[in-house]
Amino acid sequence: MNKQQKSELIKTAKFASRFAYAPYSKFPVGAALLTKSNRIFAGCNVENISYGLTVCAERVAIFKAISEGEKIFKAIAIYTKTKDFTFPCGACLQVLTEITKDLTIILVNRNDRTKTYQLSELLPHRFS
Ligand code: THU
Repeated sequence: MNKQQKSELIKTAKFASRFAYAPYSKFPVGAALLTKSNRIFAGCNVENISYGLTVCAERVAIFKAISEGEKIFKAIAIYTKTKDFTFPCGACLQVLTEITKDLTIILVNRNDRTKTYQLSELLPHRFS
């Protein structure tokens, strides 16, 4: 991933958070996934009145990508308009690791500060 792709990814994640459907938590999240073929798929969290049906932004992005034929991923950016960085939940980490064993995870906060991790750092042991 080059510098331009990284900034495009961050911009896309931020923009996607505007579409979050989060009337219950009021916690909008945006994600943007960069594929091996350099396509970017955006996602936002989609909540439901039956709370357990909620899907996180990360999983929306990965399911969109997989459903359009993409299987290998390079990086994902996750944006929340908070001071603290938002880490992906355990369920999303497990889904992210299903096909691509490792990828770069870029967390973005409201001040456009970033923190970068590898998926293997956040999920050193996965169910397989
Ligand atoms: N959420 C995400 O979309 N991604 C995360 O990484 C953490 C949590 C969503 C789920 C729910 O809609 C809201 O944030 C509050 O938990």
